[in-house]
Amino acid sequence: MNIIDVINKKRNNGELTREELEVAFNGFLKKEVKDYQMSALLMAICINGMSDQEVFDLTDIFINSGEILDLSSIPGVKVDKHSTGGVGDKTTLIVAPIVASLGIKVPKMSGRGLGLTGGTIDKLESIPGFRVEANKEQFLKQLNDIGMIICSQTDNLVPLDREVYSLRDVTGTVDSVPLIAVSIMSKKIASGADKILIDIKCGEGALLNDERTAKELRDLMIRIGNKYEKEVRCLISDMDTPLGYCVGNALEVAEAAELLEGKIKNNLYDLCVDIASNMVSMAKEISIIDAREEVIDAINSKKALDKFNQFINYQGGRLDDMPISDKTLEIKSTKKGIIKDINALIVARVSDSLGSGKTTVDDKIDPTVGVFLNKQVGDKVELGDTLCTLYYNKVQDNFNITDAFTIEEE
Ligand code: URA
Repeated sequence: MNIIDVINKKRNNGELTREELEVAFNGFLKKEVKDYQMSALLMAICINGMSDQEVFDLTDIFINSGEILDLSSIPGVKVDKHSTGGVGDKTTLIVAPIVASLGIKVPKMSGRGLGLTGGTIDKLESIPGFRVEANKEQFLKQLNDIGMIICSQTDNLVPLDREVYSLRDVTGTVDSVPLIAVSIMSKKIASGADKILIDIKCGEGALLNDERTAKELRDLMIRIGNKYEKEVRCLISDMDTPLGYCVGNALEVAEAAELLEGKIKNNLYDLCVDIASNMVSMAKEISIIDAREEVIDAINSKKALDKFNQFINYQGGRLDDMPISDKTLEIKSTKKGIIKDINALIVARVSDSLGSGKTTVDDKIDPTVGVFLNKQVGDKVELGDTLCTLYYNKVQDNFNITDAFTIEEE
């Protein structure tokens, strides 16, 4: 059997055996299978889907393509989290310190931005001195010393996902439920945590736009978790409007710190409390209600803020020196009424055009720019009120950001 037989079988909606999946995917990693052949197979998977058995086999092939982290030397339950990617999503920066401040270990390997959604590692790199890389020894030592780490994924963790993902990104094969499930779950299982919380984003500014597909993904990831005896919980959260007030790297780090200082109560706060409560409930095997109480107390008592500062310092970051552009432009409302919607996709595009994201692989991110939303959904606006503030460095003529705001006149 060769790669063309495998492509033909999937194109004809057949079920691939483990051996056939190995021929294709291991062959691709070894560069025996060409990019165009893998692209054809991925498209056939996108169109025809995969059985559970195919998904389990492919997850296993992905996991075994690299190193599997063994966290058994670290005492206690280890809980990881993952988000499928959203606009203004800085939840990891907030949730990890909350959970770690409650005595639970949080080993977190994060990625960079994908499409229009920012990555945790890009955000952390806005902090002068912050080290995003950690080798295995440093990873384990930090987890033991302070109970949490957020670092970039090592090159040897599921290398197959890295190769396949970059092809999916440019071949219209990202939004396939089995391929997303394999990609996420293989990385989470290889990272070694005992329990995993996944925040599935659904809406305009997310990979998945409809709830039915989000639920399909949730159920599949839970079934993969069961196979590996890992408890997996999934939340499905709204991504029609940006999360919180800020979109842009340094701005989002600053917002995370402010939330932990107790200064912010918005949609970001609500989601962080939900995610953290589920992680604590899994780790301590307590009810969500009890876990929620602990989480809110960790924020109010500033225990979580202390953990956040300890983690930033441990990884060399100097938060006080973090630059945010001093060039700002306030966008005023030309209408009076109530804000009904703020379109996440438009805000993300504007922030990207200011320099907070990458359009090509070679682009350099400007961590100091982005969008601050002065108004949120449900707020009243008067004529001339500031809707949002743009932090920029390059001069831009046409921001079109007012299109993001749907204002209904009273
Ligand atoms: N996040 C991932 O890690 N992989 C996907 O395929 C989609 C979102």
